Amino acid sequence: MLRSAPFVALTIFLAGAAQAQAVDVKPVTDDGVRWFNAEEVPTFNIAEDGTVDWPTFSGYRRYHAECHVCHGPDGEGSTYAPALKKSALNMEYYEFVGVAAGGQQEVNAAQNQVMPAFGMNPNVMCYLDDIYTYLRARGVDAIPRGRPAKRADKTEAYAEAEKACMEG
Ligand code: HEC
Repeated sequence: MLRSAPFVALTIFLAGAAQAQAVDVKPVTDDGVRWFNAEEVPTFNIAEDGTVDWPTFSGYRRYHAECHVCHGPDGEGSTYAPALKKSALNMEYYEFVGVAAGGQQEVNAAQNQVMPAFGMNPNVMCYLDDIYTYLRARGVDAIPRGRPAKRADKTEAYAEAEKACMEG
């Protein structure tokens, strides 16, 4: 019994390490609008001097316009809704997008906590990848709490994609 305790601790540690490794946030390709990891999932790109890529900075702004009232500032969570900086790491990209678009409700919860459906809201849907990369950056502590101090400029390709989405 006593001898198994360190073994259990080690197993938990290894499981934690394996999970952390499974989340690939490394930027490898750039389509002009944003960065993607090896699996073509949107990700952030932060320069050595701390300059945050435009989409991730945009995600910071949009998160605090649309999500933080329930999910708390900086993706930290609240008594009402979960910490999205963790959800963004633990959930698959399409799962995350699915919940944001379609909403979710814990049926058996003591309180009636409802995640609204944002699928028809362009102010969320056109910026959901931005919000996602921002939350992942927060989740792995690539950026501190608060407003990112330095950001890259919005690219022309980003501006075009944004316009097309908002008008579409
Ligand atoms: C009106 C309050 C409210 C707002 C605004 C809100 N959410 Fe939620 N959200 C919730 C609640 C409550 C839950 C937990 C629902 C449940 O337990 O089923 C949730 C759950 C989620 C989940 C699932 C998390 C997990 O770990 O299971 C995601 C993803 C999510 N919200 C994304 C967003 C995003 C992105 C925004 C902003 C665009 C947002 N939410 C705005 C209340 C909100």
